[in-house]
Amino acid sequence: MSELRAIEERGREAIQADFLVVGSGIAGLWTAIRLAEQGSVALVTKDHLVESSTFYAQGGIAVALYPEDSPEQHLADTLIAGAGLCDEPAVEVLTREGPRLIERLVAMGAQFDMAGDRFALTREAAHRSNRILHADGDATGREVESCLADRARTVERIHPYERLFVQELLLREDRTCAGVLARDLVRGRDVLIRARATVIATGGIGEVYGVTTNPPVTTGDGIAAAFRAGAAVQDLEFVQFHPTALSLPDAPRFLISEAARGEGAVLRNNAGERFMPCYHPDAELAPRDIVSRAIWQEMADTGQDHVLIDFTGLDRERVARRFPTIAARCLEYGKDITRDLVPVAPAAHYLMGGIATDLHGRTTLPGLYACGECASCGIHGANRLASNSLLDGIVYGDRCAEAMFGESEHADGPLFGRSPFDAGCLGPPDLRPRVHCVAWRDVGIIRSAASLEAARRDASEWLARPPVAEGDIEVGNMALVTFLMASAALARTESRGAHYREDYPEPQDPAWRKHIVLQRGLDTGLRLTYAAVSN
Ligand code: SIN
Repeated sequence: MSELRAIEERGREAIQADFLVVGSGIAGLWTAIRLAEQGSVALVTKDHLVESSTFYAQGGIAVALYPEDSPEQHLADTLIAGAGLCDEPAVEVLTREGPRLIERLVAMGAQFDMAGDRFALTREAAHRSNRILHADGDATGREVESCLADRARTVERIHPYERLFVQELLLREDRTCAGVLARDLVRGRDVLIRARATVIATGGIGEVYGVTTNPPVTTGDGIAAAFRAGAAVQDLEFVQFHPTALSLPDAPRFLISEAARGEGAVLRNNAGERFMPCYHPDAELAPRDIVSRAIWQEMADTGQDHVLIDFTGLDRERVARRFPTIAARCLEYGKDITRDLVPVAPAAHYLMGGIATDLHGRTTLPGLYACGECASCGIHGANRLASNSLLDGIVYGDRCAEAMFGESEHADGPLFGRSPFDAGCLGPPDLRPRVHCVAWRDVGIIRSAASLEAARRDASEWLARPPVAEGDIEVGNMALVTFLMASAALARTESRGAHYREDYPEPQDPAWRKHIVLQRGLDTGLRLTYAAVSN
């Protein structure tokens, strides 16, 4: 325990629950609702309950519901998209258990768009069937998140704590996880939360890049806290860049769903030419990494910071009905999607890796679980198949809850933690734009040894800085995540899926069909090992 500090409990506000859920996107809410069947649940989130990437998800939920499709085909498409790095048993669980849990979600009140008496299904890249459920056209995440948050608010055993920022995990003497130390962002004081079992469901890391389709809460806090406490993380070199985020000066990088291309919208360069057929036989519906790099190339060739998405060949009424959120948002910035070509460019969208777990969400720290985007059990491989993430949240949230039921009570004892401040967590406020710039430039769509070494150097320097008073509470986590992503990406000397190295451009070296696992060494050192991919 020498490298951990003892946590002083006296004088701190304390909360005790059977179970602790950190994060309130689809995975956190689903897990909390299930856990409440067997005990009290503290549901902690650093913003408001619904502020999560889930809320902004447009495309939908991929699931094989009808006889013309099957979980086996869904599995096969996921494995192809994952470029040899998916763990097949994990994907098998996802695609097999998905349909049953979607029925449960519908029974809870989630309403998806219908076509007669069947769900209306759309297509997205790299799916061989139409299998994407959607709600209100392009507002699937809002429907699902609102439904689950409404349910969570009415379950008596769930105690939501909003604006509570988890700073560090609490460990018992035997290194099992005992809960968290959190900062009450409203009252400005620390709160200790103890629980039989803790699950991290804090979502992704888009905000590390600044240029992102994710909301600003996505600063990788759960991944950083778990890593600091000693949990293994894996596949952090695999970041998915969504090809089509709105790209207008002063507009946020609002997502233009892949479902738009699934319904027939096409991409044009600034000369008005449709370019995707030159890059891949599936054209606009090629895997996301290929479309993103093609756009990157077109932007470089034309010296522009965007390409254009063109809905004008589609039926105008259908476009308005199918994409009401996108249409309204673009109109706010002066673009009528039924008439105008809309400027788009790639943006950070989803982290395939995360806290390493087994197929029940167990991390390498006893008592600590993880699910959703911050977790990695090998479903997404090197490139996530579109619309698999919401399904991941409910399938693996459900399995986490089942496993957590089995955790027994622990006697009270001294608590230990690894303060974020030993990693310079409270950074100067002006560090955030610097992190954005380094992550985007050096750990972005196209990487090289030189760029990744530079990112590691910058991030190490940020992490060595002493914390500042009144600093940015998230930026230390962003710096740590940048360091970890750059370290994994530097180690992987090949190009695979979303990880593209210009110094190793040949795709997929078979010798690299393995996961990169990072763990904190006894002091601050980084331990890098490999894990086999399960077939
Ligand atoms: C989209 O609507 O394009 C996003 C769907 C996803 O990332 O799964």
